[in-house]
Amino acid sequence: MRPQVLVARAVFDEVLERLATHFEVDANPDDRILTPTELRDRLRGKAGAFITGSERIDAALLDANPQLRAVCNMAVGYKNIDLDACTERGVLASNTPDVLTETTADFGFALMMAAARRIAEGEHFLRAGRWTKWSYDMFAGAEVHGATLGILGMGRIGQAIARRGALGFGMRVIYHNRSRLDAAVEARVDARWVDKATLLAESDHLVIVVPYSPASHHLVGAAELALMKPSATLTNIARGGVVDDAALATALRERRLAAAGLDVFEGEPKVHPDLLTVPNVVLTPHIASASVATRRAMALLAADNLIAALGFGPDAGRPPTPLNPQVLQPAARGT
Ligand code: DGY
Repeated sequence: MRPQVLVARAVFDEVLERLATHFEVDANPDDRILTPTELRDRLRGKAGAFITGSERIDAALLDANPQLRAVCNMAVGYKNIDLDACTERGVLASNTPDVLTETTADFGFALMMAAARRIAEGEHFLRAGRWTKWSYDMFAGAEVHGATLGILGMGRIGQAIARRGALGFGMRVIYHNRSRLDAAVEARVDARWVDKATLLAESDHLVIVVPYSPASHHLVGAAELALMKPSATLTNIARGGVVDDAALATALRERRLAAAGLDVFEGEPKVHPDLLTVPNVVLTPHIASASVATRRAMALLAADNLIAALGFGPDAGRPPTPLNPQVLQPAARGT
């Protein structure tokens, strides 16, 4: 009998077809998000799962499903997966890096520009029928070209944003990351490492791309926001929880920060109510990687990880983007 896998959310037909060449596929075409109990029960008898950031994989779920051998996330971020719990139990976890880097960087840049140039505010004003005349200062925002771009977290996406800023917009790029880039990479992306306080104080536009972890929880809160220029913007395309959304809403309302662009939120899809009422913030529903081509590439990569992790396909036993490759040793459970 072929192994069974769960595809926890609706996905491209092409992905289901690819999985179905190897597995009995239990799909979720209605796309209703399974509750933790439903997910646990639906995983009974399954060797693997194709998941998204909406499905939480933790020790209790794994213990209830000791037959599970692979959980493959259709996302680069994996805040939803307890990686230690997976590794301890020999369960392969994977994510989808690289395929979304440029698309996500495009979006981060767009959100930063929308905040700086007050695009959403202007659109709301126009749609509300309030545009009756041109005025010299109407929605005058901050300059982007030639400004200082600050990047918090300088992985692949941060570097792609840095390139856009330096090469495309003549920006001075500074960044802060726990580990400094090699000098050659710094030169390539034309970015200079600074400490976190300097980053906050000098950025005209701060873009946050640091992965979520307990260590990055509220990395930018009231104290950090107080270090920023009142003319600055903040863009978060990382993960909800990296920014203290309540503190950010207060800073925006009090104009201690000019504007923000947010694609991710603490507790999403719920959004802090104060963010919904301040005008100087552009809000999008976690869509930074959402071009059709990139979402397809992410889904196919997650499927290929699942196929390979369960010992099928051309990469059998060698999933392309594992998060805990150490479990692929011969002693991995169930193999
Ligand atoms: C990612 O890939 O992490 C994106 O945020 C989509 O979840």
